Amino acid sequence: MSTTKSVSDTIAISVRDVTRVYDGGVEALRGVSLDIAAACVTALLGRSGCGKTTLLNLCGAMDFPTTGEVLIAGHPTTALDDAKLTALRRSTIGFVFQSFQLLPSLTALENVELPLLLAGTSGSEARAKEILGWVGLAEKAASLPFQLSGGQMQRIAVARALVHQPGLLIADEPTGNLDTASGDQVLALLRRAADEFGAAVVIATHSTEAAAMADTRVRMRDGRIQEISS
Ligand SMILES: Nc1ncnc2c1ncn2[C@@H]1O[C@H](COP(=O)(O)OP(=O)(O)O)[C@@H](O)[C@H]1O
Ligand SMILES: [Mg+2]
Repeated sequence: MSTTKSVSDTIAISVRDVTRVYDGGVEALRGVSLDIAAACVTALLGRSGCGKTTLLNLCGAMDFPTTGEVLIAGHPTTALDDAKLTALRRSTIGFVFQSFQLLPSLTALENVELPLLLAGTSGSEARAKEILGWVGLAEKAASLPFQLSGGQMQRIAVARALVHQPGLLIADEPTGNLDTASGDQVLALLRRAADEFGAAVVIATHSTEAAAMADTRVRMRDGRIQEISS
């Protein structure tokens, strides 16, 4: 466990007394407070429907609380206009999904480079190649997604999520579609994102391996936090 790291005291996200009620009245979150530290892996655990994805979406400013607030690097997400939200997502947040979500007609390298092109960042190809090497897939740069295994696709997705060096990496069931060996490779990359880049890594997961490598485990039940352990 990395609880002695001094950087881990830096709070990247602060969730304060948050509820999220969906249209139709489903109370997906019912009063959640949580501080998420930089340079640490936080695992959200609990059975399907307990609110993990909802909480991740709020942490990534993809969705907003019904009551309460979420602060990202000190900024309440609800206070940001659309332009600032887009800028925040492009500069600060990376996402990894269970289903990889690579663009099928782009090569591995192009998928990784795309966020930089959308943000108008110069030197994007060199940076994309660098992070592709970091996930161990430099030799797959010219491959299309259908030519890759699931584990390789998810490692490409991790590279894409990290290419802009975000302070926050959000992963929703990142190993849910992978065999154990491939899943372990992906988890090792998420661990390294916290250790080497200082990212706050937040993972919603059912995987015992993911829970084991996390610095903090947040067990949820019925829209509430049941237990936090380090
Ligand atoms: N867009 C939505 N509209 C209405 N209800 C939703 C929506 N998304 C999720 N829910 C409901 O909110 C609850 C929490 O869902 P979710 O956050 O996806 O949980 P988990 O990721 O832990 O499976 C569930 O009851 C789910 O059915
Ligand atoms: Mg979910």
